[in-house]
Amino acid sequence: MRGGKQLLLFAALILWVKCQQRPDVIIRPDLKNFFNGDLFYLICSNSGSTVKWYLNDVILPETNNTLRKAAASPADSGKYVCESDGAKSNECSITVHEYTPSASLTIETGGPVMPTKGAVRLKIENEDGLKGWMCKVNRGEETKTVKLKLTENSVSFVFQPTELKVPETIYWCTNSTEECRSNQITLWTTDKDVMLEMYPWPAVAGESLTLRCIVWGSDQVRKSVFLRNDTEISTVTGSTHTITIVDMSDMGRYKCHATYRYSAQTRKLPHQKDSDTQYLSVQVPPVRATLSKDMLCSCSSCGNDMPYRYYKKNGQSWTMLPKDQKPDRSGTYRCRAVGEFMRTLPSASVDYSAGVPLVGSLIGILVIVLLVGGAFVVYFAMKNRRNSQEAVYEDVGLQLRGEQNYEELQKVRGRGGEYDTLHPEASGTDRKGEYAPLKRAEMQEEEYHDLGAQGATGGDGGYEALQKSEMQQGEYHSLGAPGAAGGGGGYEALKKSGMQEGEYQTLDAKKST
Ligand SMILES: *[C@@H]1O[C@H](CO)[C@@H](O)[C@H](O)[C@H]1NC(C)=O
Repeated sequence: MRGGKQLLLFAALILWVKCQQRPDVIIRPDLKNFFNGDLFYLICSNSGSTVKWYLNDVILPETNNTLRKAAASPADSGKYVCESDGAKSNECSITVHEYTPSASLTIETGGPVMPTKGAVRLKIENEDGLKGWMCKVNRGEETKTVKLKLTENSVSFVFQPTELKVPETIYWCTNSTEECRSNQITLWTTDKDVMLEMYPWPAVAGESLTLRCIVWGSDQVRKSVFLRNDTEISTVTGSTHTITIVDMSDMGRYKCHATYRYSAQTRKLPHQKDSDTQYLSVQVPPVRATLSKDMLCSCSSCGNDMPYRYYKKNGQSWTMLPKDQKPDRSGTYRCRAVGEFMRTLPSASVDYSAGVPLVGSLIGILVIVLLVGGAFVVYFAMKNRRNSQEAVYEDVGLQLRGEQNYEELQKVRGRGGEYDTLHPEASGTDRKGEYAPLKRAEMQEEEYHDLGAQGATGGDGGYEALQKSEMQQGEYHSLGAPGAAGGGGGYEALKKSGMQEGEYQTLDAKKST
């Protein structure tokens, strides 16, 4: 018996050694679903100094034991195998979706490039609520969970993660089973005073890209020179350079050179310094929905299981219409297709003017005709009376207010009213149809007032999010970060979110059926 056990142990040991020798493909961070624009690494563990990589049995040019995918695209989908010293790893399958994740993560304060030990505030938003959500942080080898102190039924939440310790930190948020998640936010640290920021990151082919050369502690950047692969591409007054339409050839190593002053500076000459070098990745554009002039949302490549959602513009932000509701009031709208754990980019915005419904306009015309007719009746009645009574002007005035005439007017109005009751359904539904959504839309306005600012990969204007006020200070879960206390404003914002409960429950209920 004892000998048997030893034999088993021995066999297990051999198996273990064998496993140790065999290379293995490890994904970092370990995501359940991959999306366009994701940053991840494939590592060939247990490998020698040189490695061969295969994607769908085709050899890749890379020979390092780590593959960096800076802006994943659907073309990166497939079976990965690495080979070292003649031994091949197991197949590692990856599917990169051409959509964007359901939730959006944006930088609320701070920027993608920060001084070492700097801290940013991130904002997670999910239209369907954040119940059970958490965030994840990857710093190379390790991935940790960031717990969120969520109030029930909140759809957005601002938190301040711990200070930035390593050159590259990746954040994303997920629901409890990790199937549903947000886009990633990647943060870099620099020890330089001059920083090059790129929005959005990764850049999206066909869209614009903003490069900013900013200086820590100074808002007086006089001149910025931007370089790609050490060649000057632009010199600007100030700190911003925009590439109107990005294409794949814009990829490369970027840096900037700033000429600037500090406000309290006494020396005459300005400072001149370089930023660190950053690699610009360009992603293929995720699927985008299309909204027609008559408010029909479409997405040719989306499956049938992706219903559409509509959003109405409210100032600078977008209000989601209740599920299954299409725009029926004048305004500026956009739409997107929304699946189980992913969605398209929102369509371009379209102005819509709700035409007056046919039944409504007929009623309107009839009412006008009756009123005009009524006025004539009154006029002739007056005229006759004046003729017979030789009334002076003052009398006319008096008699107009007299009972007889008043009744006549009443009758006219009464007829208008009668007409209404002849078509109770038409007018009734009209009003309901217009009034109820208005009320709902108003309620939502408060809840969603900053849904407009979405993730860099969401492409909805993450840039604006950076400039937003710090009103929600105090909402984040403290991870030993300074200034975690206080901030009544944010609490109220979350309480407001709670008001939305009804809306969400109905959405959820519908979804599950
Ligand atoms: C997480 O999201 C997925 C995809 O939407 C969903 O199927 C799953 O039920 C969610 N998990 C929880 C615990 O809600």
